[in-house]
Amino acid sequence: MSQTDIPPVLVTGATGRIGRVVIDQLLDAGVPVRALTRRPEAAATLPAAVEVFTGDLTAPETLDPALNGAGAVFLVWTAPPRTTEAVVERLAAHVRRVVFLSSPHRTPHPLFQQPNPVAAMHADIERLIAATGLESTVIRPGMLASNAPAWWAPAIRAGGVVRWPYGAAESAPVDDRDVAAVAARTLHRDGHVGGDYVLTGPESLTQAAQVGLIGDTLGRKIDFEEITPDEFRSLWKGTAPGPVVDMLLAAWSAAVGQPAYVTTAVADILGTPPRTFRQWAADHATAFTQGS
Ligand SMILES: NC(=O)c1ccc[n+]([C@@H]2O[C@H](COP(=O)([O-])OP(=O)(O)OC[C@H]3O[C@@H](n4cnc5c(N)ncnc54)[C@H](OP(=O)(O)O)[C@@H]3O)[C@@H](O)[C@H]2O)c1
Repeated sequence: MSQTDIPPVLVTGATGRIGRVVIDQLLDAGVPVRALTRRPEAAATLPAAVEVFTGDLTAPETLDPALNGAGAVFLVWTAPPRTTEAVVERLAAHVRRVVFLSSPHRTPHPLFQQPNPVAAMHADIERLIAATGLESTVIRPGMLASNAPAWWAPAIRAGGVVRWPYGAAESAPVDDRDVAAVAARTLHRDGHVGGDYVLTGPESLTQAAQVGLIGDTLGRKIDFEEITPDEFRSLWKGTAPGPVVDMLLAAWSAAVGQPAYVTTAVADILGTPPRTFRQWAADHATAFTQGS
């Protein structure tokens, strides 16, 4: 099949962490790409080969131009949930295939089993997709390695101590590039319809150890000071919404003393081992040295 015969894949969340890399992976595989954004000015950073569509998941009718003639959709949902049903109906009316970026809310590990409104929304979207005739794949990253700059870069850049709760809580951070590579693979290769993949990094690491690995990359020791959940709530007031902070605290609290859930899904699907957190940190060192 030549590139002109392959129907385009519509990437939602195209300007976001995962979608942006999915675009590169699809283009590398010779798949034509459409990108959805609410902010066409943000599309200036997308590769020239991408066809950009302005649309908003909370206004389902705005999606039609992007969906007309598309073959598959990579669905990322960070918007409010009220239009999920209408959007999934629209997807089913236009395309054959959807790959949904969800979370491991079905995995019986304490880190993933705390009350979480985002996980509840993901479960709803999965139910809606399953009720259509769409060919679907669900991908469920655990903790993304790329959470680290938002969490720890301000303190590290300032040369100070990382003050954080539940330093002993373990996770297996997964590199966004591995998540995106799996998403792209499942969008354009056969054999993944009905696939449901929990994606993790290769090893269980405490939060304190993750900060230590960032320090190794920067060539200096970063002090880690354990603080209480209440101190964390005060510190993050105004920076992150209260329910998000509570959700994270509950997850970390439950994960103390529990080795993280580690899967072989990345290696099974890509044929290459998942990147380590050390590798992620080495490739993103500037996130902890530059910027504000
Ligand atoms: N952080 C983690 O550890 C973790 C773990 C598992 C799963 N996840 C899931 O990963 C997803 C987030 O992926 P990400 O980090 O790649 O996203 P992100 O970097 O937060 O970017 C969000 C994207 O969503 C788009 N968007 C937001 N509201 C929209 C709307 N109303 N209509 C259309 N597009 C909209 C934005 O596009 P524009 O602004 O250009 O319109 C942007 O591209 C979430 O569902 C999250 O629950 C995260």
